[in-house]
Amino acid sequence: MTDTNPIEALERLEADALAAISECADAGALEAVRVAYLGRSDGHISVILRGLGGLPPEERPAAGQEANRVKQAVAAAIEARGASFTRPERGEGPDLTLPARAPWRGGRHPITQAVDEIWHIFRDLGFTRARGPEADTEWYNFEALNTPLDHPAADEQDTLYLVDSVLLRSHTSPVQMRTMETHEPPIRIIAPGWVYRRDTYDATHTPAFMQIEGLVIDEGVTFVDFKATLAEFARRYWGPDTRVRFRPSFFPFTEPSAEVDVKRVITRPDGTRHETEWLEIMGAGMVDPAVIENVGYDPERYTGFAFGMGPGRIAMLKHGVDDLRTFFENDVRFLSQFAS
Ligand code: DAH
Repeated sequence: MTDTNPIEALERLEADALAAISECADAGALEAVRVAYLGRSDGHISVILRGLGGLPPEERPAAGQEANRVKQAVAAAIEARGASFTRPERGEGPDLTLPARAPWRGGRHPITQAVDEIWHIFRDLGFTRARGPEADTEWYNFEALNTPLDHPAADEQDTLYLVDSVLLRSHTSPVQMRTMETHEPPIRIIAPGWVYRRDTYDATHTPAFMQIEGLVIDEGVTFVDFKATLAEFARRYWGPDTRVRFRPSFFPFTEPSAEVDVKRVITRPDGTRHETEWLEIMGAGMVDPAVIENVGYDPERYTGFAFGMGPGRIAMLKHGVDDLRTFFENDVRFLSQFAS
């Protein structure tokens, strides 16, 4: 037997090819082996197949059969090797060929964004930031704010009691009293924070929610300062064409009291302008002299105004969200729309 025996030559070729295939570490190397053996014009096996015509006729069928078998065996080995690059066998470890997970991009929660935007506007108007405890006493939460415990206004803010007269604050207004006790006028503060109420969880209520309290106390603060400051805030937050309305209302700790509404001008994508309905954005008023007296200041000397708003509600209006709960369900598909 010599090298010229085509069947032997084919078997050697097959062994060489399989060895070369098993050494291939990537798809590029594998393709080079494929071309070398199976390439149409001068792949080793194609050359042998083409040479079959020169064999004695009785040897041709066996050699032809063997050549086709080797060709198929090499092609199958190449395919199997290629598949091993794209998918490991089950249980062989992680599939490194899967597309990588896009890096997670963090972002501030839409309500935190609203708090920051609101606070920054007031900061530019000369306010500082204040805070108070989330667990507070009946005195700070109600009585100091001119709200007797049996007053209907106290019922509206039913909350969870912890021990004795300590409760989860039902609004941020107790920060007014706590700030006045520890600071001398002039006072200009913004106090964002969590508050708690016995509210059902629905599209517009959650039992825990964010509020932002504002308080200004100084000599000679008038109703004009009150209206101008809040109107200026509304126009900076909602846009310069925003209209502001003060509707008479009642809060035990302010006199007179108002609900502040805004009417926004929205420019549509086609450039046309459209006015929204009136939207209520906060409760406010001139600080009741009884509150000023409760802290020990002279109400003849000091006057001021206060306001409270819900940044969750403001974020809903701003983004056209119709269910407050979506802010608390922490569905990344929803929240990621606000990550800037
Ligand atoms: N504390 C009120 C509430 O939770 C909101 C509020 C109204 C705060 C009027 C104020 C104010 O400071 O002046 O419903």
